[in-house]
Amino acid sequence: MTEKTATGITGLDEMLEGGIPTGYTILVAGGPGTGKSTFAMQFLKNGIDQFGENGIYISLEERAPDMIRNFANYGWDLSKVKIISMIPEKASSAHETKYVSVVGTQSSNTVELSPKKFSVDLVADTIREHVKSSDAKRIVIDSLAALSAQLEDPFSIRQEILGLSNLLSDLGCTALLLTEMPEGQAGISRYGIEEFVAQGVIALYNIRKGSERARGLEILKMRGTKHSQKICMMELANEGFMVYPNENLHSGTSGF
Ligand SMILES: Nc1ncnc2c1ncn2[C@@H]1O[C@H](COP(=O)(O)OP(=O)(O)O)[C@@H](O)[C@H]1O
Ligand SMILES: [Mg+2]
Repeated sequence: MTEKTATGITGLDEMLEGGIPTGYTILVAGGPGTGKSTFAMQFLKNGIDQFGENGIYISLEERAPDMIRNFANYGWDLSKVKIISMIPEKASSAHETKYVSVVGTQSSNTVELSPKKFSVDLVADTIREHVKSSDAKRIVIDSLAALSAQLEDPFSIRQEILGLSNLLSDLGCTALLLTEMPEGQAGISRYGIEEFVAQGVIALYNIRKGSERARGLEILKMRGTKHSQKICMMELANEGFMVYPNENLHSGTSGF
């Protein structure tokens, strides 16, 4: 039996027959506002609260204090989740060198570290260091788009994503890589490598249904396990994500 890492998200573990296979790297793909960051944070929070597994959230998109403030709307206690934001700050006019400020947040303390030159090695070193120091079993990288925006060309994007995925698999953590997927796009591979480095793909949707929008979740791929083939209804409710494994997103709709 494959060991599973339960997400703790209502309905989803049922679709995954117990959870994500432990140690896998999963792409979480969806358009803006489909709930990728919320989903990922809930995965980490549940890991701590329900399964005693520490987690690390690497955000290249939002500062840690802003994230904590936004997620406070759900009433979540995130004090035990390690949130590390690495946000590009400025490009020096001289050599176009990009800098990031690294903010590590743990408990209620926000520690602002001195800006460092951005590189994927810095991201990798940060992951390595914090996985070790907090014995983390779950990792989130938000997002591949923000990471790639710091790189020059498609070749280095592919190299760096591949390098990161090797690191994640060496560390043995179950990892979520968040990635943009424009609505209506057939494939999820924006950089030509994602499906190669990920053992699973979970897609999030926010479609028009008549005059309203409805949220959906689909497991597009999950190597080594059986899983639901449905595009299921999902809700972003007051407590966060709820997935309805028996309700089809497209029932009663006139299409995407
Ligand atoms: N307290 C809340 N209750 C319900 N839904 C919320 C709440 N806060 C935010 N949302 C919804 O979550 C969406 C943002 O989700 P987010 O995880 O940031 O998406 P993504 O990372 O895919 O851009 C918002 O567009 C909003 O619809
Ligand atoms: Mg996001």
